[in-house]
Amino acid sequence: MTDLTGSALDHRLTVWRDLTEVGILESDASGRLRFTYHEAVWDRPECAVSVRLPVRRAPYGDRDALPCFENLLPESDLRTVLAQSAHRSPNDVVGLLGVIGGECAGALTLWPEGFGPPDPPAYAPCTRATLERLFGGRAVSEAPTASGPLPQRLARQSMSGVQAKIVLRREPTVGDRDVTYRLPVNGAPGNVICKRDRLHYPGLVANEIASMSLMERAGVPTAPRTVNALHEAVYETARFDRLSQPDGRIRRLHAEDGCQLTGFVSINKYADPSGPTFQMLSAALNRYSGDAATDRERLLRWALANIVIGNRDAHAKNVSLLYDAQDTRRLAPAYDVVCTLAYPELDRTLPLALGGTRQVDAFNAHTPVVIAREFGLTAGLVREVLDDVVACMAGALDDVLQAVATQTGDQVTCDTLHRIVAVEAEALRTRCLD
Ligand SMILES: Nc1ncnc2c1ncn2[C@@H]1O[C@H](COP(=O)(O)OP(=O)(O)O)[C@@H](O)[C@H]1O
Ligand SMILES: [Mg+2]
Repeated sequence: MTDLTGSALDHRLTVWRDLTEVGILESDASGRLRFTYHEAVWDRPECAVSVRLPVRRAPYGDRDALPCFENLLPESDLRTVLAQSAHRSPNDVVGLLGVIGGECAGALTLWPEGFGPPDPPAYAPCTRATLERLFGGRAVSEAPTASGPLPQRLARQSMSGVQAKIVLRREPTVGDRDVTYRLPVNGAPGNVICKRDRLHYPGLVANEIASMSLMERAGVPTAPRTVNALHEAVYETARFDRLSQPDGRIRRLHAEDGCQLTGFVSINKYADPSGPTFQMLSAALNRYSGDAATDRERLLRWALANIVIGNRDAHAKNVSLLYDAQDTRRLAPAYDVVCTLAYPELDRTLPLALGGTRQVDAFNAHTPVVIAREFGLTAGLVREVLDDVVACMAGALDDVLQAVATQTGDQVTCDTLHRIVAVEAEALRTRCLD
């Protein structure tokens, strides 16, 4: 394929939802976005790029289009490095998606006009050495630099988040035996997300596996996760937004994160008071979920389990709405659950206020009443879920951490988590229920 990064193509991209071209995304000289559905999909509501952007004839302006597309990009330092490497501004959403938007979270992919998802999709071999090269050096924990081989550019992948990550195709999708990985080329779809360990946060792989397992044991559906079979310093999660087809292709299911659902750009995920809230997420579930009552209770369970696990980074981009193969929308399985309290230098403030506060220390017996209002549930149900989460966690702690220590060999991290979760569970019960 020819070079897709020519400057003449920069500010007009075609937008695809899996294999259907649905519209055009443009930006003007000052970077304001405009998204217009193609006439061919005007009578196909299932081609919508977002619940907030239903199919219509009139174009959507910047205010509506920006949250949908900006949230597809990597964030923070990773975006800065990518922007440097692509000679774009970090604010140039269309320019950056034109370089890396071939494989994103959910079903959207973006291509310069005249190009589209590769057909058939191509894959390159992927070994331990490939992963080390893609993650920028022999020690996979090294920070990415603009001069390194940025995996996002090589594979044309734009996964959101702040951690360096790469999407691979893994077969078989479950089990530990005879696993092979292939590297999707030029925006081909993959079925697992691989995140590397980070120097500043030792034990992140064991931490995320254990925290995700505890979330599952608290009764929240959770994405499958494991240690990458090629590299022990790489965390791997199976994508819930990808479906293997009988013909060997991977179908993209759509998903939207909590910032996209509530209409905020990614940087606002921590904003107080002008960022997303649990009230807004609950209202979005009421409006868009196929089973709002179950999903609101599940969101609450997720929020409380994160408190107990010591995850103080459970922000709106770490929760998603997933569209199934029939296009019914439900709260997606939990992902990116990490005990951040294991790293004392990290902020302890909650990114989403819960019970009217961002400080867990401020929780008290009245907190369940306030939470009930935030989620549109009864205070009795909130207390019941809280009690159940604490009980599940206490019951699961020994088993889960022992299993993860055996799997990862990282006893130190598992011991740290054991200590933290036991304290947090008891503290939550004492503050809110006694
Ligand atoms: N198992 C999964 N299946 C599908 N999408 C996922 C999965 N895990 C993460 N994602 C998507 O990828 C994005 C980045 O992953 P995440 O683990 O949150 O990375 P980071 O640690 O950098 O925040 C998430 O915001 C979500 O949209
Ligand atoms: Mg995340």
